[in-house]
Formats: sequence, C-alpha cells, structure tokens
Amino acid sequence: MRQVAVIGIGQTKVDEHWDKSLRDLAGEAALVALADSGLERVDAVYVGNMMSGSANHQQHLGAYIADWIGMRGTEAYRTEAACSSGAASFRTAVMAISSGAVESALAVGVEKMTDSPMNEITAALATAADAEWEAGQGLSFVSLNALLMRRYMHEHGWQKEHFAPFSINAHSNAMHNPFARFHEKLNIDRYLKASMVNDPINLMDASPTGDGAAAAIVIPLERASRFNGHTPVLVAGSSAATDTIAVHHRKDPLFLKAAFASGKKAYKQAGVNPDDIDVFELHDAFSIMAALSLEANGFAERGQAPRLALEGQSQPSGRIPIATRGGLKARGHPVGATGLYQIVEVVQQLRGEAAGTQVENARVGMSQNIGGSGSNIITHIFKKPD
Ligand code: COA
Repeated sequence: MRQVAVIGIGQTKVDEHWDKSLRDLAGEAALVALADSGLERVDAVYVGNMMSGSANHQQHLGAYIADWIGMRGTEAYRTEAACSSGAASFRTAVMAISSGAVESALAVGVEKMTDSPMNEITAALATAADAEWEAGQGLSFVSLNALLMRRYMHEHGWQKEHFAPFSINAHSNAMHNPFARFHEKLNIDRYLKASMVNDPINLMDASPTGDGAAAAIVIPLERASRFNGHTPVLVAGSSAATDTIAVHHRKDPLFLKAAFASGKKAYKQAGVNPDDIDVFELHDAFSIMAALSLEANGFAERGQAPRLALEGQSQPSGRIPIATRGGLKARGHPVGATGLYQIVEVVQQLRGEAAGTQVENARVGMSQNIGGSGSNIITHIFKKPD
C-alpha cells in the first residue's frame, strides 16, 4: 500500500447561499483545492453528499460535478454515508491512491440545505435514522440527541449549564474563521437563555443547517514534493466502523462503539495514541456528541468530558483543542460537506494556517465524522512530515 498525502485544500463559506447552486458551491471548493495543489487535472473525483436528491432534485453528482469543473472523462461518483458522507468521499480517495488504482484524486463534499423548508430538511435528515423504529415514530436527530443528553445528565450528574463550554469554545474559535457560518461570541448567559429546541437541547447546543462545500486533493506521498510550495500533509490513518442504526438496539447508548473502533484502528495505523493528538476536529453536531466523542476516543474518562471542557482543556491552548475553526456548532454543518471541512481545518492547523486559533507546534491532527446517531463513523489521522 502506498502512503498518501494531501496537497491541496479548498472551501466555501458556510452560509445561506441562495444565489449559488450545488455545482457552484462544489466547483468553487474544488477549483480552489486544485489551484492550491498545483495540479490541473485529477484521475478521479469523489463527491460526498447526503440529500441532493430530495433537497435539490439532483442526483448523479459524480458526472454533474466533474462536468462542471472541466474534468469530463474522469472517473467520478458520489459516496453517501449520511452526515459522514464527506469523510467517506475522502476515505474513498485515500483508498484509491494507496491501492495504486489512481495517481491523483479530488474528494469534494457539498450540501445545499437552506433552499428547502426546515420541516423537509428535518425529515430528510431523519432518513439517516431507522425509518421504522425511530423516524417513523416521530424522532428527529435533535430529539434522538436530546434523549442521549438527558440520559447522560442522569447517569453522570451533570447539569445543562455544564455543556456550555463546548458551544462557547466553538463560537469563540469561529470568530477567526472567515468561512464559518456564525461570527457571534457566546457567553453562559446567552447559552442559558437560548430558545429550547427539544429539552434539554437548546439552540446553542445544536449545529445549524447550511450550504457549503469543502475539498481536498490527494496523491501518493512519494510524488507530493513535486507539486506545490506547501508541506504535504501525510494521511497516517484512515478507518471506518459502523454500529446499530437504531440507538435503542445498543447495550450502552452512551458509548460510541464505532468511534472507539475506527479511532483505535486509525491510532494503530498512525502509530500514535490519544496523548499524541495535537488537534481534534470532532463531530459536535450537538454538545452531547462532542462529549461522547471525546470519551470514546480516549481523551476523557466515561462521564468526564464536560469537566475537560469546563477546565478549558478543549480550547486552542488546552490539552486537546477541538472545533478550532468553529466546529459543526459555529462553522456550520452542511451535512455531506462537513467531513471535508474537518479535514481541511486539520490540514490548515498542520500547515500553520489557522490564524487566530493556531495550535502551537501542531504536528498530529485527527478528524472524525459521524453519520447517524453514531452508526457510521470515519476517522482520519494526519501528520506533518518531519
Ligand atoms: N446556533 C446558533 N444560532 C442559530 C442556530 C444554531 N444552531 N440555528 C439557527 N440559528 C439562528 C439563525 O441564524 C436565526 O438568526 P436570525 O434570527 O438572527 O436570522 C435564528 O437562530 C433563528 O433561526 P431559525 O431559522 O428559526 O432556526 P432553524 O429553523 O434553522 O432551526 C435548529 C434551528 C437548531 C432547530 C436547526 O438548525 C436544526 O434542526 N439543527 C440540527 C440539524 C441536524 O439535526 N443536523 C444533523 C445532525 S446529525
């Protein structure tokens, strides 16, 4: 298997892009990533997306995007794994390069959610849950996460305000990210007064919907130095795992088994452990998911992630910086694009390009993208070569 490197990244601002189509967004991110890499063409295009069929009446995104960015003739298709579709497209690109099947690949994640009424988007998101046992009974992703948060508070004795530091950190970091959806500082007072969505989850515990695209170019590491002025970033670990699709089928719903499994495999591939990770772009779709991710990946004991955040250890200067460019909470969560935003942000950190929230001496970074309520989890570990 060949080693793989990221040599180009691109992203659009996450926003309500009423004036841009799905292909405008994907094309913008893809062309920025190509220019950043120094390549003019790639051998393959993999598009991460969850809901373009229902939200945009457009399927067949491989040919659709390849055609738009001038890559007619290139192998191209879409990968779908609910909210982890973006990381799935990146992992597809990594596997294609490492196997020797292709010499260069573009992974681009795109989602356009704000053209549809919110009730339609909520229903489209719920298709990632179990249609018979969850969505069919009226559960949405907000309510599934509200059940998890309520159970976590009951089992571990935390109060709602103890989750505030996750959202405050995310909003504070997003202030420095021009691509983030929100540029509004949050404090404990605003957090506590935010309107309730589904008790105990209020507006400040939830990620927003949004439109956006992010992209990365990968090639074999041995060819990476030829292409651009950046230090190539090594993909040191890439792993995916699944869990039951319905939460109630899990013996322990508060343990993200698939995060543990894919994290463990990625640590092993990269030859690192949680202590070596300098920056972690986790899947904070809800503040409870940030807590469960930190615990499943070995950054906090079970039931103790809120303490880590309360002590400031998840801030850019802390022991395990998370959501350093705003995370899903404040950069935004255009679902099928999110995994690639996370990867772009880790690469920025390892290149030293994360102005305002740069983690000092960042050498090893991790991204983890979660599909469904923890049912499909994809982890990547990146290293800055010595
Ligand atoms: N955090 C902070 N502010 C938010 C926000 C969020 N998550 N979501 C919306 N806002 C802001 C809006 O910008 C708007 O501000 P404005 O009045 O200044 O323009 C205001 O709050 C009201 O927004 P509104 O349009 O009424 O909210 P919404 O219909 O977008 O619904 C949620 C808000 C939280 C219910 C919705 O974003 C949601 O369902 N999020 C979860 C999505 C999800 O499940 N993703 C998959 C996870 S696995």
